Amino acid sequence: MNKGTDSKHIIIGGGSGFIGRALTMALRARGDVVTWVSRDAGDDRLTWQDIAQHGLPACDVVINLAGKHILDMSRRWTKSYRAEVISSRIETTNILVDAINASSTTPTVFISTAGKCFYGSQAFRASEQYFDLDEHSAPVGVDFPAELVSMWEAAADRIDTAKVRHAKLRFGIVLSSRDNEYSKRRSKIGARGIFPMLQAIFQRGLCLSMGAGVQPFPWVHIDDVVGICLQAIDNPDMRGIYNAVSPGIVSNNDFTKLLARKLNKSVLGHVPGWLIKAVVGAERSTILLLGQRVKPTRTQESGYVFRFPKLEACLDDLLALNQKRSQI
Ligand SMILES: NC(=O)c1ccc[n+]([C@@H]2O[C@H](COP(=O)([O-])OP(=O)(O)OC[C@H]3O[C@@H](n4cnc5c(N)ncnc54)[C@H](OP(=O)(O)O)[C@@H]3O)[C@@H](O)[C@H]2O)c1
Repeated sequence: MNKGTDSKHIIIGGGSGFIGRALTMALRARGDVVTWVSRDAGDDRLTWQDIAQHGLPACDVVINLAGKHILDMSRRWTKSYRAEVISSRIETTNILVDAINASSTTPTVFISTAGKCFYGSQAFRASEQYFDLDEHSAPVGVDFPAELVSMWEAAADRIDTAKVRHAKLRFGIVLSSRDNEYSKRRSKIGARGIFPMLQAIFQRGLCLSMGAGVQPFPWVHIDDVVGICLQAIDNPDMRGIYNAVSPGIVSNNDFTKLLARKLNKSVLGHVPGWLIKAVVGAERSTILLLGQRVKPTRTQESGYVFRFPKLEACLDDLLALNQKRSQI
């Protein structure tokens, strides 16, 4: 299966998604062999049924990135959507964990992923008072996204750590402007993350922060997400939780001001919280209206050096990429 002595076979659940495609590109560029686990059959893919029925093929690494997008604006927040958001994470994780635990040719590492929502929404506890949280912190408030992450991580924690190293990544809001063939077929948010949509809105002059705007905006550049995943694959000492969130966290107001300035626009004000709740539903509105001051303490201690530790450099990079694209 491997192409060379150092080349690895990496199985990625949900590899066809926004983060999975960026990671796949980086892995293939360095000579690794990548197989996606997907709902759809195809080249270099296995389906979830294949794994559940026949077990895991020989591989070195398993990563799970599968999950129905929680902020799909094209869908109303209904019971069935909520159930799909949960099952798409728990059932896929269960299939991979059961297959790894039962496998006789166990991979070296299992990387499970979730979100910074694990820490809950701090403003539930102390309105507008945000303090630093890191991988050592317990959740500070319980809302639906925090409950979801906690169920998702509990499913991943069933992995037999006597057989396989387990690294748990918690992603912040992933910013990218990379384009690919996929983004032409899917909704913008699912294809390239939230940034291209925000840029398009701001470019129309609608530079607005969300609700009070004081809530933290725990962003991370896609290159750092890929970099942290590669390090979690390669570094045999990486076990346990790692926040994939930039150390240069800002508030939603500061993000709004900086992006507006970069686009030569003025900030108009705020989208009122009640309107956001009415549009996206109260349960998922906490993702936009509240937040977590999440720090990547263990990630940095592991030796990972962020390529984009500051928001300004991140925005310059993303906007330059978009400008180059529009000139082609
Ligand atoms: N992007 C972010 O800013 C961010 C932030 C925090 C956490 N995360 C988490 O990180 C993971 C990867 O993020 P992403 O942005 O790359 O996700 P994505 O592009 O929205 O989706 C990843 C993959 O999940 C699979 N999927 C979608 N709905 C599914 C369902 N109902 N059942 C089973 N599989 C389903 C799809 O693969 P197939 O179509 O091939 O089946 C899709 O390509 C997600 O779990 C997400 O919650 C992302």
